[in-house]
Amino acid sequence: MGTDPQQAAGKPAAKRQFRIWRGDETGGDLQDYTVEVNEGEVVLDVIHRLQATEAPDLACRWNCKAGKCGSCSMEINGKPRLGCMTRMSTFEEAETVTVTPLRTFPVIRDLVTDVSFNYEKARETPAFAPPADVAPGDYRMQQIDVERSQEFRKCIECFLCQNVCHVIRDHDENKPAFSGPRFFIRASELDMHPLDTRTDRKEYAQSEMGLGFCNITKCCTEVCPEHIKITDNGIIPMKERVVDRRYDPLVWLGNKIFRRGQVPQTSATSGHSSGAVTSGAAHGGVHSHAGGSHDSGAERQAQQGVNWQREVPHPTAPAVDSSGKLPLTELTFDRAAAPSPFGDDVEFPLPAEHLNFAHPQQDEPKH
Ligand code: SF4
Ligand code: SF4
Ligand code: FES
Repeated sequence: MGTDPQQAAGKPAAKRQFRIWRGDETGGDLQDYTVEVNEGEVVLDVIHRLQATEAPDLACRWNCKAGKCGSCSMEINGKPRLGCMTRMSTFEEAETVTVTPLRTFPVIRDLVTDVSFNYEKARETPAFAPPADVAPGDYRMQQIDVERSQEFRKCIECFLCQNVCHVIRDHDENKPAFSGPRFFIRASELDMHPLDTRTDRKEYAQSEMGLGFCNITKCCTEVCPEHIKITDNGIIPMKERVVDRRYDPLVWLGNKIFRRGQVPQTSATSGHSSGAVTSGAAHGGVHSHAGGSHDSGAERQAQQGVNWQREVPHPTAPAVDSSGKLPLTELTFDRAAAPSPFGDDVEFPLPAEHLNFAHPQQDEPKH
């Protein structure tokens, strides 16, 4: 018979009060539980104990119990938090701990919500566009550039920041036009990436991702379990650069001379932006890189997944006039970017039958 570590330490388990939302998309309510809590436990431990005792059908999503998978997002006493990183010792002993599902996303059941909004926004965000003439594996960048964006790469996609943002929290109607803080830092990360050949990240964030809706309340930063300074290091600098560019006197002059529809565009530029910008609306929020072609080559490529060996066009050089100078219009448009690493004709989401991901070890011979 094992020894109870709590008793061995001489500290008896205490009974604590919990209120947990139970229900599904048709409705539900808070239910009271009195549950045993041991020293050092987190809220997720208590939920597991409830599942093992009086509420075996309580639904809760989790995976790592180490604050790294981003699955156990929930609202604890009204604050968006990770269940596995919220220690019971942070509450008063007499305090009732209330656990509810994320409010911004539709409930599936109990504490499990449908966060697919975030995956749609991820698909809409234009992918990293490396230089077309540099092969994967040959990318090189300065350590200082690696470190600049490292903060944003810590994101565990718990979507607590998305959940807390008032722009969409109680406003479903804003969701189509607002990607949210998690994807603003993705845009910011790519904007500062020296090998990303898209030069319109901030303009895209402003015009297509709804950056302008954000009024820098910093709630997203406050709830981020990875302590990413979403607003100070991602959103605000990007807003400042949008403003810099928009109010650049040369850009202003260019916009005055050439009205929007009259500005000449390179074919690569127009192709790229039409794929990234307009197709989102045309396909109900699904991003397509090349206007959604459905030819058999694209179909084949989708079936093969990412084709790193494909032939890709070289990036188009900035247009120069006969005197070798950049025309003024060059200041108002982004340069041509390299194609998406997923291929130019791949549409997302891939149909289920085209999802061919295999774990790298799966095909290795077993000894
Ligand atoms: S700072 Fe902006 S993105 Fe973050 S929660 Fe506030 S409005 Fe939303
Ligand atoms: S930025 Fe922070 S809060 Fe937002 S999804 Fe990533 S880890 Fe979670
Ligand atoms: S279970 Fe993975 S972050 Fe909580």
